[in-house]
Amino acid sequence: MIVVTGATGNVGRPLVEALAAAGRQVTAVSRNAAAGPGAAPAQVRHHRADLASPESLRPALDGAEALFLHDTGAGAHLLNVPAILDAAKAGGVARIVLLSSQGVATRPQSASHGAAGRAMEEAVRQSGADWTILRPGGFASNAYAWAEPVRTHRTVAAPFGDVGLPVVDPADIADVAAIALYEDGHAGATYELTGPALTTPRQRARTLADLLGERVDFVEQTADEARAQMRRFMPDPVIDTTLAILGEPTPSEQRISPVTEQLLARPARTFADWAGRNIAAFR
Ligand SMILES: NC(=O)c1ccc[n+]([C@@H]2O[C@H](COP(=O)([O-])OP(=O)(O)OC[C@H]3O[C@@H](n4cnc5c(N)ncnc54)[C@H](OP(=O)(O)O)[C@@H]3O)[C@@H](O)[C@H]2O)c1
Repeated sequence: MIVVTGATGNVGRPLVEALAAAGRQVTAVSRNAAAGPGAAPAQVRHHRADLASPESLRPALDGAEALFLHDTGAGAHLLNVPAILDAAKAGGVARIVLLSSQGVATRPQSASHGAAGRAMEEAVRQSGADWTILRPGGFASNAYAWAEPVRTHRTVAAPFGDVGLPVVDPADIADVAAIALYEDGHAGATYELTGPALTTPRQRARTLADLLGERVDFVEQTADEARAQMRRFMPDPVIDTTLAILGEPTPSEQRISPVTEQLLARPARTFADWAGRNIAAFR
C-alpha cells in the first residue's frame, strides 16, 4: 500500500492515477472524504485526514509500505513533522518521498521557502526510512490563478512579464514521484525538477490565447499590485520570496534540470503541454 497525501492536489491527483495505472494499491489522503480523484480505480481507497493532526493519518499508515508526503502548500512550519514521521514509522512505512521545493536550496535565507522546508527535509532524512526528496521549481499549474480573468475578460495580469522561469508540469513531478515510490535505486537522492525551457508570463499568456484561438491581453502588474492580489491567499513572507523568484531569479532558478528526462527517458512536459490538457479551465 502506498499512501499519497495531498491526493486532490496538482501533484497528488496525477500521482494517484500513475500509481494505480502501475497496478499499485493506493490510499489517497485528503481532508474531504468526497474530494478524492474522480472515477478512481478499484485499487484506490480514500482516507480523510488533516496533516495538521497526525493522529488522523495513523489509520492510513498502518501497514503501508511507502508514503508520499508534502507540506500542504500552507507551509511546513504549520505541521508537526516529527509526529507525522513517528506515525509513519509505527505503521511500518519503509520509504518516504517528500515533495519539497527548489527554494530550500536557492533561497536558504527565506523563512518561508528555506528554513521550514529545510527542517522538513532534514526530519525525513533522519526518519529511518529510505527517503527521496523532490525539489521542483514553480508549477505550470500556478497559471490556474489566471483562469477566472481569462474566462471572464480574456486578460492575464501578472508581474515581471518578460522574466523567464522553467515552470514544471505537476504531472512530471507525479511521474518521478511514482517511480521513486515503487522502484528501487532512488533512496538518498534529492531530485531538482523543472520544465524543459524558460517561458515568461507573457509567453504563457500567449500559449493560452493560441489554444483558445482568441486574443488574451497581457497586463503587466507592478510588484505592489501583485503583492496586493497575492495577499488574498498568501502570508507576507511567502509573497516576498515568491516575488523575488518571479522578478529576480537566481541562475540556479533559471537552470533547466535534466533529471526528469534522465529518470523518465522522455523530455519534460512543456507549459503548452500542461495548458493543452487544462485549457477547459480557461474557456
Ligand atoms: N505551486 C508551486 O509553484 C510549488 C513549487 C514548489 C513546491 N510546491 C509544493 O507542492 C505542493 C502542492 O502545491 P500546490 O500549490 O500545487 O497545491 P495543491 O496541489 O493545491 O495542493 C494542495 C493539496 O493539499 C491538500 N491539503 C491542504 N491542506 C491539507 C491539510 N492540512 N491536510 C491534508 N491535506 C491538505 C489539499 O487537499 P484537501 O483540500 O482536499 O485536503 C490538496 O490536495 C505543496 O506542498 C507546495 O509546497 C509548490
